[in-house]
Amino acid sequence: MKRFLDLADLERDEVLALLELARRLESRPEPHALAGKILGLLFLNPSLRTLASFQAGMARLGGSSFVITPGQGTWQLESRLGAVMSGAAAEHVREGIPVLASYCDALGVRAFADGKDLAADLAETAFSAMASLVDKPLINLESAISHPCQALADWKTMDDIGVPRSGRFVLSWAYHPRALPLAVPATAAHMAALRGMEVIVLRPEGFALPPQIMEKAARAAALSGGSVRETGDRDEALSGAHIIYAKEWGATSCYGDAAGDARLRGNLEDWCVRNDWFAHTAADCRLMHCLPVRRNVAVADEVLDSPRSIVQREAYNRLTAQMAVLYRMLKSSI
Ligand code: CP
Repeated sequence: MKRFLDLADLERDEVLALLELARRLESRPEPHALAGKILGLLFLNPSLRTLASFQAGMARLGGSSFVITPGQGTWQLESRLGAVMSGAAAEHVREGIPVLASYCDALGVRAFADGKDLAADLAETAFSAMASLVDKPLINLESAISHPCQALADWKTMDDIGVPRSGRFVLSWAYHPRALPLAVPATAAHMAALRGMEVIVLRPEGFALPPQIMEKAARAAALSGGSVRETGDRDEALSGAHIIYAKEWGATSCYGDAAGDARLRGNLEDWCVRNDWFAHTAADCRLMHCLPVRRNVAVADEVLDSPRSIVQREAYNRLTAQMAVLYRMLKSSI
């Protein structure tokens, strides 16, 4: 495997094989498998889980890693093509990324959506330009519209606790004071559809997922026997749900318009997942969230601190899932 950029780039069987490898490495560790291998990690946006779990995973497999967070002890990096670099950035990614790639055996890059031009973000214009600069194995640490490492971890988490393959997966919009990117909701919908689940995207008016995202999830559902639809009817969506996957995202009806987005979300503070959201779900319905989560804004303490919450297991599985990706990418005998 040379690149891990989007779960949709893999056949369903390849995803299942990665999950099996993750379980194998979890039960039978191989602490020397990647001895001598180096992973480079470039974070153009903040992280807690992705940064720490990749470093830990590489170390647990016997390899090593380095982290670059531009502007924090290293030069600020410019990523806009054609930019006149008279500002704070001293170096362009067109030089910086190939340099970093030359030091390592695989490179991971995090570059969130610009959040201004929906078409450009859906097309992964910025990430694709950076990816074209890398001649080594490349891992997407979250781009404009994809977070494949989160998807793999979330799939494994549901397998770990026995969530039915065809269960009802409600991807619910959750409140946040400002617009957040579409990468996680887009990836979660696709992942659950590919797993074979009944995916319902629950969102208020103005926050519908773009057709390209829904169509991609629908294609995955067609392969696996799942289904995908959207609704604004919370009671109907949550009835019988096995998973409530809470996620905050920006208003797609006025993408890039901060004032319009603020107007739309102004009266949506009740979109905070509370215990009463589980009144008519399956009895063992669980709460998922990729983290970080704002307590009592997106999800209430009473849910996050209850046995329904599996957010810690999701975060832990970032480690196990990514170790499988690293192993498949860098272990020469595979
Ligand atoms: N879920 C996730 O990617 O977490 P971080 O942003 O902390 O890496």
